[in-house]
Amino acid sequence: MIQVRHGVADDARAAVAVWSAANDGSGPPGHADRLLVWAVDPDAVLVIAVEASTTVGMVLLLAGRADDGAGPLLPELGHLTGLAVHPEYRRQGIGTQLLIEAKQAALDAGRTRITAWVRDHNQVALDLFARHGFAPTGRTATDSAGTAMVLLEASGDEDAPPV
Ligand SMILES: CC(C)(COP(=O)(O)OP(=O)(O)OC[C@H]1O[C@@H](n2cnc3c(N)ncnc32)[C@H](O)[C@@H]1OP(=O)(O)O)[C@@H](O)C(=O)NCCC(=O)NCCS
Repeated sequence: MIQVRHGVADDARAAVAVWSAANDGSGPPGHADRLLVWAVDPDAVLVIAVEASTTVGMVLLLAGRADDGAGPLLPELGHLTGLAVHPEYRRQGIGTQLLIEAKQAALDAGRTRITAWVRDHNQVALDLFARHGFAPTGRTATDSAGTAMVLLEASGDEDAPPV
């Protein structure tokens, strides 16, 4: 049975190994190292999916900052990065559960805006984010691997049950 929970510092290495396996070398150079640093940042929330004692998925909620992460902290902003499910565990709803849990973590931390960069040809991820209220902001960029990215944004309460 898959359990989705917040990770601790000791979970970071296994989580980032899943990200590396999920991206099969296609991620931007050095991103796995950045994820390892961010995963143990006390302002970040690491969300992992675990089966028995094996980590099979991850996503990171980072404290939002102005200027694409270079500026001052923005308390209302959260930023998602590193969403990944191990190839052998896909299409079981794990990515969906990770996204829901990360959005809830954002909401719990008072972060009402959540952003994420997604590769513009990654239709699976674009559709997944769209189903959870993320829409294109109109901003695009090219990552350090030369891949075109689009910036998506959602408000934190899109998955909340209707009142
Ligand atoms: C994107 C990713 C996290 C989705 O993980 P997942 O656990 O398969 O997601 P889910 O099982 O919750 O699938 C959600 C829906 O996405 C769609 N989907 C998932 N994998 C798909 C595929 N290979 N082809 C087509 N649609 C797919 C389906 O609609 C699926 O629901 P369904 O199977 O009930 O129809 C995973 O494919 C992955 O790790 N990809 C590589 C890394 C990546 O692209 N991360 C996103 C960076 S922003």
